[in-house]
Amino acid sequence: MEGTFKIIIADERHTVFAETISKEMESSAKQRGTGIAKRTPKYIQEKMLEGKAVVALTASDSWAGFCYVETWSHGKYVANSGLIVSPEFRKSGLARDIKKKVLELSTTKYPDAKLFGLTTGLAVMKINSDLGYEPVTYSELTDDEEFWKGCRSCVNFEILQSKDRKNCLCTAMLYDPKEKPEVTVNSETQEEKPKLGHSIKQVFSALFLLNL
Ligand SMILES: CC(C)(COP(=O)(O)OP(=O)(O)OC[C@H]1O[C@@H](n2cnc3c(N)ncnc32)[C@H](O)[C@@H]1OP(=O)(O)O)[C@@H](O)C(=O)NCCC(=O)NCCS
Repeated sequence: MEGTFKIIIADERHTVFAETISKEMESSAKQRGTGIAKRTPKYIQEKMLEGKAVVALTASDSWAGFCYVETWSHGKYVANSGLIVSPEFRKSGLARDIKKKVLELSTTKYPDAKLFGLTTGLAVMKINSDLGYEPVTYSELTDDEEFWKGCRSCVNFEILQSKDRKNCLCTAMLYDPKEKPEVTVNSETQEEKPKLGHSIKQVFSALFLLNL
């Protein structure tokens, strides 16, 4: 996988992929029979132009994957949304690499924000927990009305409403940078490197292993 795809912050050059991405999001959700907030091509283009999206491209610059971030509650929270990998490139670690880049983008652009995502997918749950996200109740997420309005286009919206927005079919996962070792991602290899001095636990583990 390493070196096969370019995983970069999207910009105006990538807006041509918005239509394809939007269609793929909708057809994948239908296939899985799960709910998803709909994203129009225009909305996807806006995220790209705002520097809030990550795109994966093949060596010949075809679209391979996408994800974006959005801030809520006046920047206190950042949601990672719309993760999608083109069907032909699935199951080879691409979503994992895209989410690493999204984590890097979020913590660089919004260092004080808590990051979160809502998902019904096992793949995303696995990736998120490996990156340090933890499952939480919806009470730990943003209460920004605009964020929750995004759920109106989901087929499960009535469930969310009937539960008074306390829960629904999606699992909420939260990453609080204040509770995590800071992670940098090598943009060449997509490898994660915890920054020196941030992981006291790791130092203690090393001393323990060395019998010191
Ligand atoms: C979900 C999706 C993004 C995964 O992309 P991907 O590039 O195939 O994922 P990866 O190859 O990086 O896999 C990451 C992990 O998830 C697992 N995984 C991938 N697809 C899976 C699936 N359908 N069911 C269960 N586990 C899955 C992989 O085995 C891997 O786990 P491992 O490292 O323990 O082996 C892709 O299938 C997709 O675009 N689906 C449609 C849209 C969608 O569901 N988006 C998520 C909305 S929240």
